Amino acid sequence: MKKIYGIIGDPVAHSLSPVMHNAAFEKLGMDAIYHAFRVSPEEVGDAIRGAKSLGISGLNVTIPLKEKALFFVDAEEVAKKVGAINTIDFCSGTPVGYNTDGIGSLRVLKETVGQIKGKKVLILGAGGAAKAISFYLDGAGAKITIANRTKERAVHLTSKLSNADFSGLGVELKEYVKASDILINATSVGMHPNEDATLVSADMMHPDLVVFDIVYNPMETKLLREAKRAGVKKRVDGVKMLVYQGAASFRIWTKEEPPIKTMEKAVKDALIRKILKT
Ligand code: ATR
Repeated sequence: MKKIYGIIGDPVAHSLSPVMHNAAFEKLGMDAIYHAFRVSPEEVGDAIRGAKSLGISGLNVTIPLKEKALFFVDAEEVAKKVGAINTIDFCSGTPVGYNTDGIGSLRVLKETVGQIKGKKVLILGAGGAAKAISFYLDGAGAKITIANRTKERAVHLTSKLSNADFSGLGVELKEYVKASDILINATSVGMHPNEDATLVSADMMHPDLVVFDIVYNPMETKLLREAKRAGVKKRVDGVKMLVYQGAASFRIWTKEEPPIKTMEKAVKDALIRKILKT
């Protein structure tokens, strides 16, 4: 029988996950389909219970449901620590929750720099995405600094990590960038339509810095353009993170090795189609 997967969130109509997962199912010749379901925060519990009753195999969870959904699943330990899930697996009967955002970012960085242990990582942002990324990198032994506009949020997140420091986004940021091996933008700064915004400019960077932006629309953000200008060789866009978090969900649900290249191409093609439309 055809297996059904999906994503719940609101708004969800523009999610790239359906295109990405359906391309993967097709590539592997699996009898499965992935659909976007618009669900309000008030209905997240009903949606998860209903999905279980209907025999849905797996769900992704997106904004604004990631935190709330945690209360309706058995969550893995790191997801509990993060306080948010983005993946639910129904294969054992009870819904089990995971956070593959962190898994995705860790994989992106391991692929780019190899060993994470001991690396100095500066994370811009202290919201949901920054939280997921920082818990996984902390677990991998990175030395983290959280820099956020609202300093209290940075202080709070830092207090939950084992080896971390905090900063604001003022003049002090320059010194932190200089001292870092890896810079990650986990804020929405630079996202369409504010494509000319960046929190870090070329003059603050050094060529050996790894610059990773989780924003994927546009694919080449202002931060990545500044990195290019500064001679930074290792620049990573948000499409990779999107694909790797999706791939991690796919692996949890299907126990199959996800066709990463196919998924990446599906996302990039969809982004290009979107740009052509606007
Ligand atoms: P997400 O779950 O996608 O991380 P979020 O929890 O709303 O979303 O967090 C957004 C992050 O982007 C926050 O760190 C936010 O900073 P504040 O905590 O000060 O709100 C950051 N952010 C958003 N717009 C920003 C801007 N214009 N300048 C600096 N930081 C910004």
